[in-house]
Amino acid sequence: MGSALEEQREVIEGLREDGYSETVIDHWLNPRNLGRRSREECDGFSDWFTGSCGDSMEICLRVRDGVIRDATFMSDICIGAVTSGSMLTEMVKGKTIREAFVISPDDILSRLGGLPTQFVHCADLAKNALNLAIRDYLALAKEPWKLAYRKYY
Ligand code: FES
Repeated sequence: MGSALEEQREVIEGLREDGYSETVIDHWLNPRNLGRRSREECDGFSDWFTGSCGDSMEICLRVRDGVIRDATFMSDICIGAVTSGSMLTEMVKGKTIREAFVISPDDILSRLGGLPTQFVHCADLAKNALNLAIRDYLALAKEPWKLAYRKYY
């Protein structure tokens, strides 16, 4: 039986042979900003959003003065979803809500160095979850009194 290091090398080689970029491999093995937060901890929260393939993702935004200071995500375990969520949450940090909103699935794919055809839609899942988190943030910004009820729904 090989060591853990050898096994990881084999996994990486397999991913390279399957055509994954070095960036995708890095984000798959070391996902950024992966973690679950409760709705109350977020200024914008997407809820557990399910995409067309049946996989799901949630995104939590922490916003100060209209700038996204922190973003985290949780998703089903799919290489496309995890790497798209990881990359997107990195991309939005330090951006205004407006700047984050215009990020497209193609922007995510481009930063990842692409994904195989069968996983291209995973970037849509991440973007749709981000849109929901942004919508939630904007709704709360308009009616801040709803914050008091956040823990109930
Ligand atoms: Fe469904 Fe990746 S999100 S296959």
